[in-house]
Amino acid sequence: MKQPSATVADQAAIADAAAVLEEGGLVAFPTETVYGLGADAENPAAVARIYEAKGRPHDHPVIVHVAPGADLDYWVTDVPEEARKLVQAFWPGPLTLILKRHPQIPDAVSAGQDSVGIRCPSHPVAIALLSAFKGGKGGVAAPSANKFGNVSPTTAQHVRDEFGLDAHDDGALNGDDACSASMLSVVLEGGPSQVGIESTIVDMSRLATHGPVLLRPGHITAQQIADVIGMLPAAPDQAAPRASGTLESHYAPRTPVTMLAADALRTALGNLQAKGIKVAVISHALPALVSAQRKLPAEPVGYAYGLYAALRDMDQTGSDLILVETPPQDGDWMGVNDRLRRSVFGSAGIIDAMLQK
Ligand code: TXA
Ligand code: MG
Repeated sequence: MKQPSATVADQAAIADAAAVLEEGGLVAFPTETVYGLGADAENPAAVARIYEAKGRPHDHPVIVHVAPGADLDYWVTDVPEEARKLVQAFWPGPLTLILKRHPQIPDAVSAGQDSVGIRCPSHPVAIALLSAFKGGKGGVAAPSANKFGNVSPTTAQHVRDEFGLDAHDDGALNGDDACSASMLSVVLEGGPSQVGIESTIVDMSRLATHGPVLLRPGHITAQQIADVIGMLPAAPDQAAPRASGTLESHYAPRTPVTMLAADALRTALGNLQAKGIKVAVISHALPALVSAQRKLPAEPVGYAYGLYAALRDMDQTGSDLILVETPPQDGDWMGVNDRLRRSVFGSAGIIDAMLQK
């Protein structure tokens, strides 16, 4: 995991942000995975503002973020011993546990489900914010700080871009984004997120009947979880609760994205360029082929760290198509492949269609 850069919010900015949360406002803040769009989890009106700002359907639950050492039993009930072991092993860190929701937790947070997602992030700014908010006893409901369906932000600038905010004039409005931006006036700086893809989500709420279920792969792998609890989390079945990050189309830039193995990518690129079609490339092994190209490390941790910034940057190149060199398929690459599969969803046949035009 990379360490955050020097540019981080100071104590005064963090105290101000905690006060905004306590008043029912929205705060975007860095976590080690991606930036979150936070609100007081115990204030249904504040949580409703998250959905409004993101344009997110109301049936998609949000994760509650808590400070290190928070009282788990305040937020959830029927906590199995295995869940406590995972907390012990991986918190603070990029692991979200789905557990039975305590009756006092508002419906708005869990979209009416009887479970709730809870996690303790490890980013120092997130920890400072959670520790300042309600004296460390509160919970901050926070999805990723992007418009629904878009690529998650891994820098404060990405958040400002998503919501049309200016860097040194928080709250400034740009056209269509005026409505959502006016609800979000605070973006805490924390440098680039160290992990770069969203937390691993494990459903531990139906352990006795279903065992642990991996709802979303991430930096913490299924094998690492198995090493702690002696059970390998299974892929979700049809009856599993909905997770918006598990919708088929998600994490998608505006430019269509498609994935090809190295040789097929070279061939397609040649054919597309011959037709005057502008192509951007995200590679990990291929050499430089086009001017709009981002080469990511050929190992999964470094690749995940750079993936979302690469998708955003290639989206800005004015290309007609983004071609991604298919990464290796083994277990450690599961989180990366899951996000890529969703950003390419719906692009099947797009190369043929472009060549036939
Ligand atoms: O790394 C992360 O988890 C980031 C940072 C900000 O913490 N958050 C994040 O939140 O990715 P979001 O809302 O973009 O994705 C959370 C996922 C969603 O797919 C949501 O549906 C799922 O978690 N989720 C939350 N509560 C759930 C529940 N009770 N049952 C099933 N899925 C749940
Ligand atoms: Mg998200």
